[in-house]
Order: sequence, then C-alpha cells, then structure tokens
Amino acid sequence: MEYVVEVHNLTKGYKEIKAVDGVNFKVKKGEIFGFLGPNGAGKTTTVRMLTGIIKPDSGKAYILGYNIQKEPLKAKEHLGVVPETSNAYVDLSAWQNLILTADLYGVPKKDAEKRADDLLKEFDLYERKNDKVKGFSKGMKQRLILAMALINDPQLLFLDEPTSGLDVQSSILIRQMLLQLREKGKTILLTTHNLEEANKLCERIAIINKGKIAAIDTPENLKKMIKKLNTIEITFDGSIDVQELSDFPEIQEIRKTGDKFILNTDNVNNLIYAVTEYAKSKDIKIVALNTLTPSLEEVFIELTRRG
Ligand SMILES: Nc1ncnc2c1ncn2[C@@H]1O[C@H](COP(=O)(O)OP(=O)(O)O)[C@@H](O)[C@H]1O
Ligand SMILES: [Mg+2]
Repeated sequence: MEYVVEVHNLTKGYKEIKAVDGVNFKVKKGEIFGFLGPNGAGKTTTVRMLTGIIKPDSGKAYILGYNIQKEPLKAKEHLGVVPETSNAYVDLSAWQNLILTADLYGVPKKDAEKRADDLLKEFDLYERKNDKVKGFSKGMKQRLILAMALINDPQLLFLDEPTSGLDVQSSILIRQMLLQLREKGKTILLTTHNLEEANKLCERIAIINKGKIAAIDTPENLKKMIKKLNTIEITFDGSIDVQELSDFPEIQEIRKTGDKFILNTDNVNNLIYAVTEYAKSKDIKIVALNTLTPSLEEVFIELTRRG
C-alpha cells in the first residue's frame, strides 16, 4: 500500500466554528508528514478524528487501508499517538504507565514487559522506571509518552505538537528519535506550529489555516511557490542613489540597512544584470552580492494571509 493515511473531505464543526473544513491529504509510507498551522487551525481536531477520539461530521479517512468510521478498531491496531495533552497517569510509575498502555492495545503481557524495558532504556528513563510520573520533568514526561505510543510497535505514529513547550535539549532528543523511527520505516504524522521543526523533519508539509489546507508540498517547493519574495542583498563601494535604484522595473521593494541594499524581486537574474550594468556605468564596484530565497516563514505568512 502506497498511502498509509488517506483523507477525503474530512469535516468537523463545533457550533458555528468549522474546526476542520473539507480537508484532503495523503501520507506516503515511510515519510514524516507535517501538519503546520497556527493555533486554532484545526490540527488537533484532525488528529483526534484520525485516531478515533472524535467522529467526523462528514468525509472519509483511511488508516492503513481501514476506513476509520467502519473499522475503527482495525485502524487503531497499528497506530500510536502522542496526544496534545499528556495521557500519562501522574500517580503511576513510568513502568506502570507502559504496561497499562500495552494492556489497552492488547499487547501480550510477556511481549509488553520486554518492550517496556527496551523502550525505557532507549528513551533514557530506565533508572526512573519505578518512580511516579508526578516527579518527572516535562522532557522526561514527553519521552515517556512517546514510549507509550510505541508500546504496540505501530507502523504509523501521530504526534500532536510533540516538542511544544519543551526545553531545547528535550526537543532535539525527540526530533532525533523521530528521525530514527523513520529510518526504521515508520510513517509519522506530526503537527506543529514550529516552522523550523517542520522544515528540518518533514518530507512534505501541509499548511493548514482556519480548517482548510492552503498547500501541500516539500519544504523546498513551498519556498519556491512565492517567487516574488526572492531577495538580493547588495553592497557597493560608492554612494548610490536609492531613488535611481527604485526606478528599476525588476525591483519590487527596496530597503537599506547600513550600506547594504535589500532588493525584493520576481526576477533574480534580470535584476543582477541590471544592477551590474548600473554599477559599471557609474564606475562603482560591487563589494558583496547575496541572493536569498524565501524562508518557510515567509511562505507560511503569505499562504495563511491569503486564506
Ligand atoms: N471540543 C471543542 N469544542 C469547541 N470548539 C473546539 C473544540 N475543539 C476545538 N475547537 C475549536 O476548533 C478550532 C480548531 O481547534 P484545534 O483543532 O484544537 O486547533 P489547533 O490544534 O490547530 O490549534 C478552534 O477554533 C477551536 O477553538
Ligand atoms: Mg492543537
């Protein structure tokens, strides 16, 4: 099967709010698929529908080929979830939480104990296995929750903002673990409002805003979508009249910081020709020239503004 998740026109409303409004996307086997959007975009609602916590109003979704409405148990069998809010019991130990989760997923006791041990070691929690979760740091707790999500050795993992509110070190650790899981062939759907995280981890990103998907593509292609935001930074060794530069048809926007001009253009090539010609004609040297492609942040702002 090529697609591990297939979503068709999925919709969920709360009174007058359309939390998820006709969403379509497919997640390929073995990829880290990012669901990127601001707070309130509908990310959690989507994850909750796909993991069987809430029911869609309309639309269809398939998890590993199983229809989530018709075969919810089959669909759930091979997935793991790291929910937005912790599902660990704070009055139980790390070990007890893992065994309890294994039980919920129907993992046989012997397998469960072996897996719990392995996961605790892998997630650097083994020394604390019998301590109550109450005393855990946020990072330790999040590692435990990820371990719980993996107790049934799922093929597909949903993570809802797994690094939100974590310290830098814990975030890095979680991200490394996700990359390792991908190496092992797991498929991951990750929601985040962190652009850098999506950029670093994801093969493809869906940008979601106000319940609708604005774009789905690789981070690189998303950045190319907004051509006009290409930028040239240029420094001359003589004085340049900003007024003269702003008459260039290739320049959309012009800013100056220190002795550096920052020019926005939709045609990098023509602009470089034009400014080079211009400098030559004035007998002024170009001391630095940099081209910058738009950041994912700019793409995100542009796409969510349009929506
Ligand atoms: N149980 C609920 N009751 C009412 N409104 C909800 C509920 N869950 C989510 N919403 C609303 O749906 C929208 C999407 O929320 P959510 O899916 O949590 O967004 P995100 O995870 O992207 O921040 C928001 O406007 C939110 O207030
Ligand atoms: Mg959320």
